[in-house]
Amino acid sequence: MSEQNFSILILAAGKATRFKSEHSKMLHRLAGRFLGEYILQAAQAAGPDCLHMIIGHEGEAVRKAFARPGLVFIEQSEQLGTGHAVMMARPELEKCSSPTVLALVGDAPLLRPETLLELVETHRQARTAATILTTRLDNPTGYGRIVRAGGRVRSIVEEKVATPAQKRIREINSGIICFSRMHLLKHLEELSAENAQKEFLLTDLVEIFNRHRLKVAAFPVTDSREVLGANDRVELAQIEKLLRLRKAEALMRQGVTVVDPEATYIDPDVEAGQDTVIEPGASLLGRTRLGSDCHIQSYCTITDSSLADRVTVRPCSVISSCEIASGVTLGPFAHLRDGAVIEENARIGNFVEVKKSRVGRASKALHLTYLGDATLGENVNIGAGAVTCNYDGVNKNPTIIEDGVFVGSGNMLVAPVRIGKGSYTAAGSTISEDVPPRSLAIARSPQVTKQDWVKERRPAKPPREKA
Ligand code: UD1
Ligand code: CA
Repeated sequence: MSEQNFSILILAAGKATRFKSEHSKMLHRLAGRFLGEYILQAAQAAGPDCLHMIIGHEGEAVRKAFARPGLVFIEQSEQLGTGHAVMMARPELEKCSSPTVLALVGDAPLLRPETLLELVETHRQARTAATILTTRLDNPTGYGRIVRAGGRVRSIVEEKVATPAQKRIREINSGIICFSRMHLLKHLEELSAENAQKEFLLTDLVEIFNRHRLKVAAFPVTDSREVLGANDRVELAQIEKLLRLRKAEALMRQGVTVVDPEATYIDPDVEAGQDTVIEPGASLLGRTRLGSDCHIQSYCTITDSSLADRVTVRPCSVISSCEIASGVTLGPFAHLRDGAVIEENARIGNFVEVKKSRVGRASKALHLTYLGDATLGENVNIGAGAVTCNYDGVNKNPTIIEDGVFVGSGNMLVAPVRIGKGSYTAAGSTISEDVPPRSLAIARSPQVTKQDWVKERRPAKPPREKA
């Protein structure tokens, strides 16, 4: 489709007024990405000759979030309307020789690149001055209405200035308009801010073109959901839901069971293998990858982690930036973070936190434990309540627990410390010195039992008199 030759202008300078937010709308989160990322990816996928983004409100942060090869940012330091935004792009549009300019609003995240290409193609064949991507909505409130006369598009009337009759028009402007570059540049400066909104409205060009007897056409999109705008946080949540469902459906079609797609949160880049089951309330975020036959139970949050095949994550576990090998069982209520690596068939149980540690094959830490900066060999057993004391107030120190070690319950392992192969540590020990292989270390004070202590120290009280 390269013969189409078009450039794209994304309008993204506005403040998120109806979001009631201090931040640019482009930087609000939508289904795991920045809101602006969606339209940008659709624009890139359409393959324009030149790609521009108009930035203004929080310009520096927006630039940082979206910078990529081939994208040129244009500053609109004062946001005087969508028409004014395009005026700021004049020098760039004069440089880029494509005959067609596609103006996109930044807040239409469901738009598909195929639709953009169809719009450009329709525009090219009809040879109009502008072609507007439109749709019909049951509730068109808030959108610019398409006003026709004799079937032809005469103007776009914004909600604020629409008459009651115009407000009943259900055909709306998606905010995506394809222009002939020549006509756009010729008439752009005819826009004025002398209107109810006191803004330069790009949509006023439709009436201006009509005045010059230039043709404007409408290209209706089949699925109106595609052009839904995220104008406030309510609409943002509605779009989020659509995107989440789309992702869950894609996974289900690949052989993943999503028990309740409406109550499951899966980011766009997440992958999962066949026969994996994801239960309600699970959040799979960032670049998480699940193998096949995994079972992610309710209310787990897994971020940027990779889980191999047959991993079970029991309810309410939190896992971030970890690598989990096949056959591992985690949780319930496990917390694994910061590069923890869990090897084949190991088990991490309830209220166990694992940070920056490696747990070897078939090792177990099943109850109430903290493993930080630790390296565990194979077949290690960590008793209930054992803690690696990795932090001395200044530095983080390592704990090494070799193959086959048995750490007794309630142990404090004061790092740096090493427990040699096959050794045992007694329950309740505070281990602050290395233990050689195949030894038993007991580090607790011997028990003292004072017989008859109570009788001697606490003479029996006289019975209380009854009132
Ligand atoms: C716009 C359209 C409306 C359409 C709707 C579709 C205009 C005047 N109105 O209305 O007809 O139905 O989109 O969603 O175009 N922006 C700038 N600089 C500015 C002002 C806005 O870059 O000075 C950007 C915003 O960041 C946003 C886009 O332009 O991405 C649209 O602005 P917004 O305020 O959302 O317009 P709507 O009122 O939704
Ligand atoms: Ca909008």
